[in-house]
Amino acid sequence: MSILQFDQHVDRSHTQSIRWDKYGPDVIPLWVADMDFRPPEAVIQALTKRVEHGVFGYTYASQELKEVIVDYIHRMYHWKISPEWIAFLPSVVTGLHLSVRMLTQPGDHILIPHPAYHHFKDAVLGAIRDYSIYEMALHQGRYILDMAQLESLVRPQTKLLMLCNPHNPGGTVFTKEELLAIGEFAKAHQLMICSDEIHADLILDEGLQHHPIGSIGQGIENRSFSLMSLNKAYNFPGIGLSWVICQNPEIQKKLMQDVHTLIPNPNLFAYDVTQAAMEHGQEWHASLIAYLRKNRDTVHARINAIPGLSMAHLQATYLAWIDSSAMGWDNPFEAFLNAGVALSPGSQFGDQQFVRLNFGTTSKLLNLALGRIEKIYQQ
Ligand SMILES: Cc1ncc(COP(=O)(O)O)c(C=O)c1O
Repeated sequence: MSILQFDQHVDRSHTQSIRWDKYGPDVIPLWVADMDFRPPEAVIQALTKRVEHGVFGYTYASQELKEVIVDYIHRMYHWKISPEWIAFLPSVVTGLHLSVRMLTQPGDHILIPHPAYHHFKDAVLGAIRDYSIYEMALHQGRYILDMAQLESLVRPQTKLLMLCNPHNPGGTVFTKEELLAIGEFAKAHQLMICSDEIHADLILDEGLQHHPIGSIGQGIENRSFSLMSLNKAYNFPGIGLSWVICQNPEIQKKLMQDVHTLIPNPNLFAYDVTQAAMEHGQEWHASLIAYLRKNRDTVHARINAIPGLSMAHLQATYLAWIDSSAMGWDNPFEAFLNAGVALSPGSQFGDQQFVRLNFGTTSKLLNLALGRIEKIYQQ
């Protein structure tokens, strides 16, 4: 399988794509986090088989799927888990909101990252919980969290720490040592850790390894859980499935209490595509990572060559976090949009002077967009 398959342009206009339909044909849409690529052929085949069967009744996650996930977690993260630790949700966002609503109470206090995917904050605001923001600050080229700052923010009422690993939008892949420090902090203050790991299979740097929070051991597994999904890495977020890995049965039970009532079960297509991607998507995935790595390097070189724009090295994800503060713009998002490129406004992640660029697209389109961005400076 060649990485050239990702050069193939798939017309997504008028397919109810949030990303492609919002700004019209004159704008290159590099915002919402889905990619322009078709998933592995096995995923399409699994869907086709299900569609051709033609009866779409109530369904459930099979024991076989759980076993496939157990194998996958072992292959990808060298972590031996047990099928009972797995529970299914329709999406990771559902998991973020359930974590806050089911595991904390009014009056409890929560620690959330900044900058971060907006649902971390939406979850605490939606549940009307007290919260403090911990900064992910640039240190030696990586956005990391500061343990001293965390210590200064924690209160007797703090119950939950929200983590995003790999980090969106900074791209940080946390090391085992960093996770151990976070876990020890959680143990010392009796916190739970909700770890959003949706970007786990989008590590671009060779030699880096994703560590699920529970795999660190040291008792951290009793007070933490991972929210996982193949939605991002295999590009089927419109179908959607996520699963929680939680070794502590009490936490898992609380978290899942409203599933099948307020929260719907995942749909049958979601189970099928996830299993197909895990069983047959390995080669496709390796090619995808090679393609995204090239795109990342292109974005990094061309953005950093523009005076006034900069980005740090991105270890993971296909989402570049670009600092435009030196441009002195009131509204960076508008400046890029006027040039014909729609990016995600940094304000969505808590920092107005940044924008986020989705390079999960063909290198041809990416280069076209970067050319438009370069022209802003040349004007
Ligand atoms: C950190 C993070 N969590 C969750 C999601 C969305 O997950 P889902 O589509 O499964 O709800 C995203 C999407 O960009 C994300 O970046």
